[in-house]
Amino acid sequence: MRTKTPPPTPIGPPSSGEIKASSREGRQRARETTKYIRAITKRADQAAKDPQRRVGRYVALRELGRGAMGIVFHGWDPQLSREVAIKILQPCGSGAFDIERERLVREARSCGRLRHRGIVGVHDVGEHKQQPYVVMEFIEGSRTLEDVIEDRPEIDDALELIIEVSRAIAHAHERNVVHRDLKPANVLIDSSGQAIVTDFGLAQTIEKPSQLTQDGTVLGTPEYMAPEQVEGYPDVVGPPTDVYALGAVLYQAFCGRTPFQASSLFETLERIVETEAVPPRSLRPEISTELEGIILRCLSKDPSHRPTAGRLADLLKDELARRRAQASADAAGAGLALPWVLAIAGGALVAGLVLGRVVL
Ligand SMILES: Nc1ncnc2c1ncn2[C@@H]1O[C@H](COP(=O)(O)OP(=O)(O)OP(=O)(O)O)[C@@H](O)[C@H]1O
Ligand SMILES: [Mg+2]
Repeated sequence: MRTKTPPPTPIGPPSSGEIKASSREGRQRARETTKYIRAITKRADQAAKDPQRRVGRYVALRELGRGAMGIVFHGWDPQLSREVAIKILQPCGSGAFDIERERLVREARSCGRLRHRGIVGVHDVGEHKQQPYVVMEFIEGSRTLEDVIEDRPEIDDALELIIEVSRAIAHAHERNVVHRDLKPANVLIDSSGQAIVTDFGLAQTIEKPSQLTQDGTVLGTPEYMAPEQVEGYPDVVGPPTDVYALGAVLYQAFCGRTPFQASSLFETLERIVETEAVPPRSLRPEISTELEGIILRCLSKDPSHRPTAGRLADLLKDELARRRAQASADAAGAGLALPWVLAIAGGALVAGLVLGRVVL
């Protein structure tokens, strides 16, 4: 995983050689971008001839992935000559289709007002062949936090990413937007390593409060659902519901599994409501007691006992700072200890030689 330590800042003005090199790199990058835009415009022009690929004024270029809510395409906006991601949603409730569609548009509009580097920008919403679609900022990179967690990240790297996610969620909460379906698959990691949250507020617009379809199957991933969501009280679902999900993501990132798992879906949901999570330190002892406390507070059954997303970001930042201070103290300790070890070993060698001579 990319570490985010910035490169050391050069002292003084760059030499003429450095200026030449950076402007050469800049020109090279500009040439590559122009080439890329030309190629994608050509592809989009060709694709636009196929009516099947038209989604409103946009052109679908290729499928990026599918989830419970619909299909996401890499697309092109010919009007603004830019890449976009188009999510075509498949509302599940047949009876209240119009109401759901209206709610979706309303919700997507409120998400469109969110401006944060950690939140995918919503450009447009519309309807194509009676199916609602959302046009979003296209995130280059195609990795998600789920992929990162599967690779068992270092504690510090996971903390950094989840701090970014918590800050993004706090920004949304300040603007009265609740995510409702926060999970690692809904956090994209761009090519620079930045975590960007997607699918804001879409869950409730197309899912029934209990998350159960008519045939009894569950929509979405239940492991990140807060107890109040499982119990199906839509009025109680609010900012703390997202903080619970952040707690479940933290737990999974450090312990390798979500807090409540069982052989059947029903049992998983039952555990979320009725049992306490196994303390994270019993699964990963190198987690500090402070970090364990933070995670367990996020997973509180009572939403009022959970910290706010902003407070959570601050607590995690303090934890990261503590860990880094400890790591540098350990490194300095090892550096200080080394000369002493060498001195003692050297002294013992000299003494041995002298003694050896005397005895001889
Ligand atoms: N804005 C985007 N830019 C680039 N790729 C995206 C974007 N949004 C989604 N994707 C890609 O599309 C895939 C599918 O996303 P989608 O939201 O449909 O699935 P999901 O998150 O797994 O499930 P859910 O429907 O529950 O949200 C993602 O894993 C990601 O790779
Ligand atoms: Mg998603």
